[in-house]
Formats: sequence, C-alpha cells, structure tokens
Amino acid sequence: MRGAGKSSYDLIDSDRFWKALGPVTGLTVMDLACGAGRYTLPLADAVGAAGRVIAVDLWDDGIAQLRAAAREAGTERVIETHVTNVAETLPVVSGSVDLCLMATILHDLVADGVDKPALFEVTRILKPAGIVTIVEFNKQDGPPGPPKAVRLSLEDVTRRLMVLGLIRFGAVVELGPHAYLAQFRRLPGRKT
Ligand SMILES: C[S@@+](CC[C@H](N)C(=O)[O-])C[C@H]1O[C@@H](n2cnc3c(N)ncnc32)[C@H](O)[C@@H]1O
Repeated sequence: MRGAGKSSYDLIDSDRFWKALGPVTGLTVMDLACGAGRYTLPLADAVGAAGRVIAVDLWDDGIAQLRAAAREAGTERVIETHVTNVAETLPVVSGSVDLCLMATILHDLVADGVDKPALFEVTRILKPAGIVTIVEFNKQDGPPGPPKAVRLSLEDVTRRLMVLGLIRFGAVVELGPHAYLAQFRRLPGRKT
C-alpha cells in the first residue's frame, strides 16, 4: 500500500507545526489518513481530556499500532479510530469537527484521483468555522518524500480546496526544508 507507515512528522520542524496549528485544547480534531498515528498521539495530548481526535486510515495495521500506542500513553479515551477509505463516506457526523489535519496525504489522494470526494467529505464533517490544515511536501526533488511529479505546489493545493469553498487564511509556514503548512476555512456564508 502506497505511503503506509511513512510519516512526515519526523521530517518537519515540529515546533513550527504546533505554533502554526495554534491552541487546540478541547477541540474535536480529525487526523485524516493518520497512518500509525505519529501526529495523532501528540494531538491527543494537545486537545486534552475535553477534546477528541478522530483518526482514520485504510491501513489496518497502522490503526492497530496507534491503538496500542494510545493505550500505553493513556490517551486511548481521547482517540477514536476507524479503518476506512477517506474517499468514501467518513463515519463522522456532519458539522462536528473543529479542525481537520491532512498531513502529507492530499498528494496521494490527487494521484489516486480521489481528492474531490475526500475533500467533499472533509467539508461535510467540518463545523461552519472549521479549519483544514494541510501539510505537504515542497515541490522539489526528494528523497525524502515522494517524486517531485506527484508533489503539490501551494497554488495547486489552494485551487483544489477553493473549488469546495475553502479559502486560505493566515501565513503559509515552512516546516523546515521538506514541507509547508497552509490553513483553510470556509468562505463566509457557504454551507459546503
Ligand atoms: C504518507 S502517509 C501519512 C500518514 C500520516 N498522515 C503521517 O504523516 O504520519 C499516507 C497515509 O495515507 C493513507 N491513505 C492513502 N490513501 C488513503 C485513503 N484513500 N483512505 C484512507 N487512508 C489512505 C495510507 O495508508 C498512509 O497511512
């Protein structure tokens, strides 16, 4: 399975990531295509007992690893997991998610031709003021990371989210030499 097990978390400047993400205490956060939970586990610490992290991936072994690590870390009750294809209906109530993290997954969805249904589901589950946080590899040659041809420029990401009524806000943050972070939210007055 493409990408399974390859987290970007160890390639990014995590201090910059958390600073850009902002305070998440008490929020409901979706970690879309979470892998083995490299982002999910610190997210669970960050949202705390009053928050929730919904972590989904179609890699069942990754989800099993995440569940074991969450048990060990004592955050099992904060993390809800689902083995699911994010291009299909997400097992999440509409309008219930404050923040959806898509960490180095959008380029895979684009390469598989399923970015539109996946992003449509993201807009469905977001609260009206909900945020989508995208981490993507810089459009440059790797390794690390996928071939340049499948990487997405900021302009490409922005265009794909804008089609669904999500507009960029805040600064685009360089997360070290390999990746960038950009955040999006719904155009005022638009429902999906
Ligand atoms: C590059 S990894 C990133 C994992 C995680 N976001 C991280 O950086 O730690 C991509 C992940 O996306 C998952 N994935 C790819 N296509 C998917 C899909 N259609 N539905 C659910 N998960 C998918 C893979 O199983 C893999 O775990």
